[in-house]
This record gives sequence, C-alpha cells and structure tokens, in this order.
Amino acid sequence: MKHAAVVGAMILTMGTLAAPAQANDGAIQYRQAVFQAIGGHMTALVRIVRREVAHTDDITVHANGIADLAPLTVHIFPEGSGEGRTDALPAIWRNADDFARRREAFVEAAEGLRAAAGGPMGEFVGAFQTLGGTCSGCHDNFRAD
Ligand code: HEC
Repeated sequence: MKHAAVVGAMILTMGTLAAPAQANDGAIQYRQAVFQAIGGHMTALVRIVRREVAHTDDITVHANGIADLAPLTVHIFPEGSGEGRTDALPAIWRNADDFARRREAFVEAAEGLRAAAGGPMGEFVGAFQTLGGTCSGCHDNFRAD
C-alpha cells in the first residue's frame, strides 16, 4: 500500500509539472493510437477479403474491434487538441455539425460491418466498402494529407 501511494504521488507530481504541453500531446497521441487500432483491423480485413490469408474465422474479431472503437470518436477530439503534432484540421471544431454527421455515418457503418460479419462474404464485402467510404469521407474534409 505504502509503495502504491508513493508511486501515485510521483505520477501526480509528474503530471502537475508537465501539465500544459503534455495534456494536449496525450490527447493527440491517444486519438492517433485509437485510429491506428482501427486502421490495423481494417488492414487485417483487407488481407482476409482479398484471400491473401485464409483466416475468415477472424473476421468477427476485427469487425467487433472496429465497431467497439468507432464510438470513441465522440470523445477523442477535445477542444484544443487541434494544435500540436496532429493532422486533425481546425474544421473539426469549426464545422462541428458536419463533423458529427461524418462521425455518426462511420459509427453506423461500423455497426453494419459487425452485423454482416459471419454472414455471406458478398454482403460482408459490401459493408466493408461502405465503411471504407466513411473513413475517406471524413479524412477528405477533416484530416491533413
Ligand atoms: C469522423 C472523422 C474520421 C473518421 C470517420 C475516420 N477517421 Fe481516421 N482520422 C481522422 C482524423 C481527424 C485523423 C488525424 C488524427 C490526428 O493526427 O490527431 C485520423 C487519423 C487516422 C489515422 C492515422 C493515425 C496516426 O497514426 O496518426 C489512421 C490510420 C486512420 N485515421 C484510419 C481510419 C480508418 C481506417 C477509418 C475508417 C474505418 C477512419 N480513420 C475513420 C478522422 C476520421
């Protein structure tokens, strides 16, 4: 217990000392890590859909991964996290309504992918393409190239 308290105090102190710059960096890095996880599942699915690997049983795992992660996009764009080492464009906060619509289309398509996983391959591929369209739909408008 004593050890845990000391470590806890150290973490708090470090956080306080580093506060202004690091809080923002942390938010940006967390957001990018979430998107990397989503991207990883997408890349894995591409390999399966193109039949480069025979792991069709894994489709559900990746579809669930994306569908579970998609709603995190609600809270990974806090105010102020558009400044720093990020590709997030100011339009995210300036055109918040349009951004929210893109985000909702993405969450919906991710749920569609989850629903199609384990079903006929043709339908799954359709849902996968729909989902891919929502990625680029947002990136084209709200992410730097
Ligand atoms: C609602 C908007 C939106 C949607 C939908 C979206 N993205 Fe992104 N994505 C972003 C933004 C903004 C960034 C830039 C984040 C940053 O640099 O802080 C990003 C960054 C990324 C990155 C780079 C992460 C890094 O290492 O910096 C990957 C990979 C990515 N997205 C994949 C995807 C995939 C795959 C999908 C769809 C399955 C998707 N995104 C859907 C907005 C979106």
